[in-house]
Amino acid sequence: MTEHMGMNRTGLQMSPLDSQAMQQYAGPLPAPSTEADALALTRADYAAHAPALGSVPLPGSIKGAMLAAGAMLTGDRPEILLDKLAERLAFERGGTRLYDALLDKCQALDTTHTSITEAEIRRMRNDEAHHFLQIGQAIEELGGDPTCQTPSADLVGMETLGLVQVLSDPRTSISQALHAILTAELSDQAGWEALIALAEAQDQPELAQMGSIALAQERDHVQMISTWYRESLGLAGPGQVGAADRGTNIQSQGKEIQ
Ligand SMILES: [Fe+2]
Repeated sequence: MTEHMGMNRTGLQMSPLDSQAMQQYAGPLPAPSTEADALALTRADYAAHAPALGSVPLPGSIKGAMLAAGAMLTGDRPEILLDKLAERLAFERGGTRLYDALLDKCQALDTTHTSITEAEIRRMRNDEAHHFLQIGQAIEELGGDPTCQTPSADLVGMETLGLVQVLSDPRTSISQALHAILTAELSDQAGWEALIALAEAQDQPELAQMGSIALAQERDHVQMISTWYRESLGLAGPGQVGAADRGTNIQSQGKEIQ
């Protein structure tokens, strides 16, 4: 574990004299107006006049154009479904990379206080990769282009930047890495729930069914990562919490630890 007492000097308590001088210099807090108001006005002005984050392309194939036209005639908005499919595509690709990084970290650090297993990490990683392929196929079947970066795909790419940084930072602990993965998995679960609802609303039963199977797997991921996270904090011993009973600890599979 990397959480330990050390020479952290970031808090005011570390330097009472300097902190007192700083607070005297700062004086009483200004009335909540002027600068804060100016900033709010500037933000509002930018938000009112900024272009959108991007657009969903018109389907490039004849089949796609016909499907989109048909959907629009019935009042559906196929661009929302395509945008959210592209979002899932981007997220599942990112999730695959997060699990690759988690595997590397778990092979290097001590995980004996948890029930983490290499097999379980690989299983969840492969689930994400499989979802990625399924979504790409679904986009193509709807006449869309799975290589296109739509607004929501752009959005989740930006959102997950911090998670990737946490996983790839050599200083982060197993517990910290699991916290980042848990953040991703909770978002993943909500994303699938929204996609299934959209697929049902736009009369795409096969897509909704595929999404339901994926959602069940994502819920299992949330459970598994949550269990490992609690174990990493010492809140439970290895294997004491439900789903994590499966498999063998990663260290006992011959992965030597520091
Ligand atoms: Fe997942």
